[in-house]
Amino acid sequence: MFRKIALTAASVLVLAAPVWAETAGEQHIEDVDFAHEGPFGRFDQFQLQRGLQVYTEVCSGCHGLKFVPIRSLSDAGGPGIPEDQVRAYAKQFTVTDKETGEDREGLPTDNFPANTGAGAPDLSLMAKARAGFHGPYGTGINQLVRGMGGPEYIVSILTGYTGEEKEEFGSFFYENKAFPGGWIAMAPPLSDDQVTYADGHPATVHHMAEDVASFLMWAAEPKLMARKDAGFVSVIFLAILSTLLFLTNKRIWASAKGKKHA
Ligand code: HEC
Repeated sequence: MFRKIALTAASVLVLAAPVWAETAGEQHIEDVDFAHEGPFGRFDQFQLQRGLQVYTEVCSGCHGLKFVPIRSLSDAGGPGIPEDQVRAYAKQFTVTDKETGEDREGLPTDNFPANTGAGAPDLSLMAKARAGFHGPYGTGINQLVRGMGGPEYIVSILTGYTGEEKEEFGSFFYENKAFPGGWIAMAPPLSDDQVTYADGHPATVHHMAEDVASFLMWAAEPKLMARKDAGFVSVIFLAILSTLLFLTNKRIWASAKGKKHA
């Protein structure tokens, strides 16, 4: 009886969690279906390339990516940009050589530059540093269903501007439905058709936001694909091992069990 009540209560909790999340807290975080989600999810290579373009043309003006090596742009599971293009891409940055102390063109072996000029946080780990989903009631249980929500948080920030702005002590703040507290110091960075995608993909604010969020998720966790693959292989391996052990166990005890009936 008690078990039945407990089970019913538990299932109500699990089923209601996503619904509560919608209502709990004032932040509005939109749930986006990213290609990399789920046990078999993989980054969409073309989306990563578009996201890199948005980061380069828009966000890098204020935000650095100082923990991300430029050469990783050609790694498997990432944007998959050919090495000669990565070399050409790196050249647009000017870096101070650590050994000679002189300025030179960037190389693939350098990291993306840091950028602290505008007081904007570094974006290298942003997709993992923020959780989009906190509910129900701050327990974070619905993260089991929807994931941490880091990229969703980034999409929601970029699309969450209401158009209101205010000036306080000489600084401007912009009302944003996803930002904790409701007012962010970042002016809306995206507007429709701000970038022109080479693959002809529509460049609405929402599309650009999803693309750059996916790119930032890859930047924060470049080995996500490799990790999933390794997990998959281990599960298969364990399944085979369990079957073998089960059969071995049966065989070993067969004689003992057989005797009982004899
Ligand atoms: C004009 C400068 C500028 C540009 C361009 C810009 N940002 Fe920002 N961004 C800022 C500043 C300043 C902050 C800090 C805001 C604050 O803490 O109130 C910020 C904060 C953020 C945050 C962090 C919010 C948090 O939870 O702390 C994210 C995520 C972000 N920006 C993403 C982006 C992305 C993605 C782009 C490109 C599409 C971009 N930004 C373009 C200036 C900029």
